[in-house]
Amino acid sequence: MVSSAPPPIPAYHIPVLAEVVREWASGSRRAVDATLGGGGHAAILLATGAEVLGIDRDPAAIAAAQGHLGDSIRYLTAAYGSGDALAAVRAFQPDRILLDLGISSHQVDTAERGFTFRPGAPLDMRMTPGAGPSARDVLNSWPEERLAASFADFGDERRARALAKEIVRRRLTGPFGVSDDFVNAIRATLGPRSGPGDFARLFQALRIAVNDELGQLTAALPEFRDALVPGGRIGVITYHSGEDRIVKHQFREWGRSCVCPPRQPICTCRGRPLGRVLTKKAIVAGAAEVAGNMRARSAQFRAFETAEEAVARVKGRHWLAIWLVALLAALWAVIARQTASLNAARALTDLRAERAGLEGKRDELERRIRTASSRAVLLPRAQKLGLRLPADTEIILVPTAPPR
Ligand SMILES: C[S@@+](CC[C@H](N)C(=O)[O-])C[C@H]1O[C@@H](n2cnc3c(N)ncnc32)[C@H](O)[C@@H]1O
Repeated sequence: MVSSAPPPIPAYHIPVLAEVVREWASGSRRAVDATLGGGGHAAILLATGAEVLGIDRDPAAIAAAQGHLGDSIRYLTAAYGSGDALAAVRAFQPDRILLDLGISSHQVDTAERGFTFRPGAPLDMRMTPGAGPSARDVLNSWPEERLAASFADFGDERRARALAKEIVRRRLTGPFGVSDDFVNAIRATLGPRSGPGDFARLFQALRIAVNDELGQLTAALPEFRDALVPGGRIGVITYHSGEDRIVKHQFREWGRSCVCPPRQPICTCRGRPLGRVLTKKAIVAGAAEVAGNMRARSAQFRAFETAEEAVARVKGRHWLAIWLVALLAALWAVIARQTASLNAARALTDLRAERAGLEGKRDELERRIRTASSRAVLLPRAQKLGLRLPADTEIILVPTAPPR
């Protein structure tokens, strides 16, 4: 049933781009919120009349959403890129899948979760508490190169190498334990003018590394696309340039008809778009929303709609047809080459026979010329002597030995 009343906004986390998500979700019958958080967006999905499956890797988020939405939706505690979550999404046969990446305001505000650079916070940052290495483990054990790559790739940090070196130097004298330890390493590397902007950026980079957030996103996007029913939509809200780049490139690639290498003569890929990109440019929050919710300032929304005809499902047959055509083309090329060389051999034989015939004719003509010319010389002399030359007699003049 479609409820026209706007869903209540939870205190846990204010859902960003709510109007955009509402419009994108309209008409949905089965929707997955793969980053449930406090359930703010899930409430919007529910209000469209859809059945909703909510997924979050943080049990505290699931509990908060349950407190907010009760039994009106289904819940799954798992990382959305895990085998369990992907299987559950496929079985659900959704027509909408929403990702609102990163962490919730509640997670940031809970100091003991270690997402904040407020003084004294433990360096944890795990979205699933207790699972996998914490931020502390990463800072105390990762090799310098890996730390540097994380700060460069996820934090766009120009001095990433120097920061990684500083961390390795500092951990020799004592392990990293609380936010201040990382803040001090940043200050020592970037100088006294570094401030909250730098800390936020580099804490975010560390969090992305700890939770393998870009790896999850890259692996899950195509799986989600294939799990959607034909004409279904995936929508992603990102807060980080690396996340947005992944989403933008994947959607763009799915929207292209051919993804074969440029010089490949025959198209052997899917040969048609998997759907269409619904957002030419990322949709961002307006000034009013940003004024009321600072989190919205870096939010970018992109959406993709799968083809009405289930390309993924006919893919098997489609591939077979492409390979059959390619096989026939290759066979045709072999047969054409064989036929051409047979024809050339036959033409050579004919020419040789013709040459033999012409050579025979030439010999005959030469004999007749010799006959005619010898008769022309000798006939008058023979007549003078009263002799008769039989017709068509070849007279061969043999030179005599010169007189001594
Ligand atoms: C920005 S919040 C979502 C807020 C939510 N849309 C709302 O309206 O309340 C992101 C949530 O996604 C969860 N999350 C992030 N990465 C995840 C992943 N790979 N798998 C499952 N949940 C994830 C976080 O634990 C967090 O609760």
